[in-house]
This record gives sequence, C-alpha cells and structure tokens, in this order.
Amino acid sequence: MAAKAALYFTVKHNSYICCMSKANAIVMSGIRPTGFLHLGNYFGAMRNYVKLQDQYTCFFMVADLHALTTHPDTKELKENVHRVLAENIACGIDPDKAALYCQSHVRETSELYLYLNMLAYLGELEKTTTFKEKARMQPDNINAGLLTYPVLQTADIILHRATWVPVGKDQEQHLEMARNFVNRFNHRYGNVFPEPLAYNFGEDLVKVPSLDGTGKMSKSENQLATLYLADTDEVIRKKVMKAKTDGGPTAPDSAKPDYIENIFQLMRLVSTTEVIAHYENAYNDCSIRYGDMKKQLAEDMVQFISPIREKAESIRTNESYLHDIMEKGAEKARKSASETMNLVREAMGLHY
Ligand code: TRP
Repeated sequence: MAAKAALYFTVKHNSYICCMSKANAIVMSGIRPTGFLHLGNYFGAMRNYVKLQDQYTCFFMVADLHALTTHPDTKELKENVHRVLAENIACGIDPDKAALYCQSHVRETSELYLYLNMLAYLGELEKTTTFKEKARMQPDNINAGLLTYPVLQTADIILHRATWVPVGKDQEQHLEMARNFVNRFNHRYGNVFPEPLAYNFGEDLVKVPSLDGTGKMSKSENQLATLYLADTDEVIRKKVMKAKTDGGPTAPDSAKPDYIENIFQLMRLVSTTEVIAHYENAYNDCSIRYGDMKKQLAEDMVQFISPIREKAESIRTNESYLHDIMEKGAEKARKSASETMNLVREAMGLHY
C-alpha cells in the first residue's frame, strides 16, 4: 500500500496527471528473453501481473532489444521470444486483457530512446550498478547499448506514459533514472510524462527460496537449486529430493534452520493447508521424516508446474497463434506509442 500512497502523492504534484485514478492508471513491465522462467518469476511477477491485468491498462513486453546488449547472436532469439511469450500466457496473462508484445515491434521505442539519449549524461550512466556488473561480465563487449540500457528501459515505460512498473528490487535504480530523465524532459520541453514508480506488491510479494538453502531462485545462478516452469516431472523430483536437510529436530518446538524453513516455505506455495499442518506438527513433535516431506513436496510441485509447462509447450509450438498474439499486442502498443510520440514531437518543436 505504501507505494500506492506514494504514487498518489506524486500524482497530486504533477498537473498533467492530476485526474488519474486507479481505473485509468497505466502499468508497464518488461521481461528479457534470456533464460528460462522459474518459480520465483511466477510468484514474484507473473502471478501479480495476472491480477493487475484485471484492474489496469497493462503493457507487458518481451525486451528483445535489451537482450541484444548482452546476447548479440540472434540465432536463438526467436525461439526465446516465443518461449517467454508462451510461458507468460501459460501463467495466465491474457492477450485480450493486457497488451502482450515484443519490444522491436514498436518502432516508436527507438525514436524516443534517441531523444532521451540527449538527456542522459555519461557520468550517471557509467555509475549504474547493472552497467558496472555487465561491463565486468563482458569486458570485450562494453557497447553503448549496455551503457544506455536504462535509457531504453525508460523509453519502454514512458512510451505509454505508464506510472506503475511492477519490477523487483534489482530494477529500482533504473526506475530512479527513468524519473530523472522524465523530469529533465518535462522541464526542458514541457510536461508530457508522468513519473513512473516501482509498483510494490507488499504482502503479495512472497519469497521463493532456492533449494540449496542459499538465497532465492534465480534465472542464471545455481540451476540445480531452481525450479523452472519448463522442468520435466523427473527433473522437478530430482531437484526437490536433493534439497538440503539434516537429521531432524532433537527437541520439541525448536526453531527451524534456514534450509528447513525454505522447504516449508516452498510447501506453503504449492501444498494444501492439511499437508503443511501435518509437517509442521511432525516437526514440532520431532517425528518428521524429511525424505517423506520432500517426496510430498516434489509431487505437489509436479502437480503445480506440469500444467503450466504443458500449456506453455502447446502454445510455443503453435507459431501462427503466437504470431497473431504478437501482432494484436503490437497493435495496442503502437496505438498508445504513436499518441505519445505526437505529444513528444509537438513538445520538442519537431514539427516544421
Ligand atoms: N530491465 C528489465 C529486467 O532486466 C527488463 C525491462 C526492459 C523492463 N524494459 C522494461 C522492466 C520496462 C520494466 C519496464 O528485468
């Protein structure tokens, strides 16, 4: 709720969007087509996007241009874009409700990106955490696209004059930069854009721990400790059975070590309340058998993930359906983008 209250506060101070209410708020988010979606993406993002699409005008985008900053080889791009789209739909994003589209299909993005580049300073771009990290990871390819990544992301967002951007903590710096670029644009050329803010899910933001007891599930790190939405039943079972446990509690009602708490946390995401209560009691009276608990968790994970995987797979292999979806999404996005770009060119005095 804090984020929403903060947003309304900002809104009051921006004369251009003073009439904004919840009903006409615009939500925008992007996902890079690099790596497979996992359970953390599902509970941290997808599940919440599905709720948002019923309440707001939503733009959900596959950031294929951003992918080029780190993955210049485009051989696998098409397949990855298709897979991410299919996975998003399988998770419940409805292309009839939200605009689900591909970044490169909306050419206005590139035009706005160009204008915004003139408002972005080398010093601030070089200081960006993600830039420094990626420059370290690929010292032979520190390209200008990598440097201006946050400028492109800003273009994605403000192209729809979106105010709410549902993203994880790692994107907060990019949003802060987006607000700076917006303020510079508005100050120089006149109020066109509202300030975008991170949409904070508060209590809906559940933690999805990794299976090895260290940190969260992640797209690229420790793949054996992460459950992907594309994992087969056999792989899911294998990964869950490998989760770290110990000899069990030795005194009733004792505190749980982190790695055991993680297993309970995963169970809370996918198991029934009866099952969870059973293992909580068994833990508290020291009768728990972790082997049984993990077998139960593995089966519940299979029950949860397999329908998503199968749905995604059938969508992924239906190219004509995917093509139609992308075209429908791009049309909605282009309509909103061209309205904004008319305002931008007008404000900048680019009408001769
Ligand atoms: N940078 C985001 C990420 O790495 C992806 C992204 C691209 C994005 N454009 C966006 C997120 C616009 C929100 C809004 O996850």
